[in-house]
Amino acid sequence: MTRRIIISLLLGITITTLPVVMIRTAQANESGIDAGKRLYQVYCVQCHGVGGDGYGINVADMEVLPKDHTDTREMQSRTDKDLFKAIKHGGKAIDKSVLMPNWDGNLSDQQIESLVRYLRTVCCEKKTK
Ligand code: HEC
Repeated sequence: MTRRIIISLLLGITITTLPVVMIRTAQANESGIDAGKRLYQVYCVQCHGVGGDGYGINVADMEVLPKDHTDTREMQSRTDKDLFKAIKHGGKAIDKSVLMPNWDGNLSDQQIESLVRYLRTVCCEKKTK
C-alpha cells in the first residue's frame, strides 16, 4: 500500500517537473542563431531594417543612420566583443550615436550573444565578395 503511494508520488513529481525542465532547455537555446534572429525581428528591425540593411521604418526621422549590418567589410572590422558592447551599452559606449539604444535593461548577456551570432550570419555568411 505505502509502495503504491510512493510510486504515485514519484510519478507526480516527474510529471510536474517535466515542463520546468523543458522550459529550461528552451531558454538555453536562446543563445542560438535562431533566437538571435527572433530577437532581432522584435527589437532591431524598426531601425536596422528587416534584412539588417539599415533601412528600418524609423530612419526617416533619424539624423544618424543605423548601421547597415549587411555591409560585410565594415562589419568584419568589428570584433564580436565590439558588437556585444554596442548592443549591451548602446552607441555611446563605442563613441557612436546615442540613437543606438543600450539593451542591458531588456536583454540578458546570453540573448545579446545570440544577436551577435545572428549578425555574423547577416553580414558575413552566404556572400562571397
Ligand atoms: C532606435 C533605433 C535603433 C534600434 C531600435 C537599434 N539600433 Fe542599432 N544602431 C542604431 C544607430 C543609429 C546606429 C549607428 C550609430 C552610429 O553609427 O553612430 C546603430 C548601431 C548599431 C551597432 C554598431 C555597429 C558598429 O558601427 O559597430 C550594432 C552592433 C547595432 N546597432 C545592433 C543593434 C541590435 C542588435 C539591435 C536590436 C537589439 C539594435 N541595434 C537596435 C539605431 C538603432
